[in-house]
Amino acid sequence: MDRETSTGHVSRKTVLRAALAAGMAAPVVLMGVPALARTLTDGAGTPPLTPACDDGDDLTVPQIEGPYFKPDSPFRTSLSEPGTPGVRLTLSGYVFGRACKPISGALLDFWQADVNGAYDNTGFRFRGHQFTGTDGAFALTTIVPGLYPGRTRHIHVKVQAPGRPILTTQLYFPGEPRNNTDSIFDPRLLMTVRDAGGAKEAAFDFVLDVPQDPGPGPTPTPTSTAPGGAWAVGTAYRAGDAVTYAGRGYLCLQAHTAQPGWEPPTVPALWRAT
Ligand SMILES: [Fe+2]
Repeated sequence: MDRETSTGHVSRKTVLRAALAAGMAAPVVLMGVPALARTLTDGAGTPPLTPACDDGDDLTVPQIEGPYFKPDSPFRTSLSEPGTPGVRLTLSGYVFGRACKPISGALLDFWQADVNGAYDNTGFRFRGHQFTGTDGAFALTTIVPGLYPGRTRHIHVKVQAPGRPILTTQLYFPGEPRNNTDSIFDPRLLMTVRDAGGAKEAAFDFVLDVPQDPGPGPTPTPTSTAPGGAWAVGTAYRAGDAVTYAGRGYLCLQAHTAQPGWEPPTVPALWRAT
């Protein structure tokens, strides 16, 4: 399916990010769609773009389940208690379908390691499921998971719209040293994370392969590839590097080596539009 590489158009979600980055309060409702949670901490300075609801070209990518999933997790939104060791973490966001419309009643089943990097395989510590509300929103209270050998820091999740297939994936933390060495890590699954008085506030939005009527939408704005400094697969970028992609400028937020599928508009945790 088309990516912004070939078509040059801009997704509605990109527009939502851009609108928020331009100073709108979040969360907001724009064009009847909740703002993407990851836009909460986007940098400033990106002008709003002409929106287009193409979607389906940046579905949340699946990842391996790993060895520690257990069915029948408790129904709860909090995986920690006041005395639970670890840095308190709240994760919130939305579940969308292909047309960027929120999905009500979507199941989210989270599991993660404790502060020491251990999974509870006998009980259900740090395991729990919940459902999105009518606005497609979810919120999880937990702790920052600990590290265990061979992996970078991550949270496992299964997401399922009513009557649809299950998406199994993992969420990642920006700025983790092991992000550069974990072969499973994918920057498209980076959460937006910010410090909040000794705790962490994270945001992530899921886009599921659920057909939706996009309704009337604005016309995409064609863009062209700018010469010089163009984003290129295989290039090792450092934080602060500037590139152009599909006629727009982007600033690198984290060091990484560019890979197919990590185009700047699709990986807001790595690139910020300038
Ligand atoms: Fe894991």
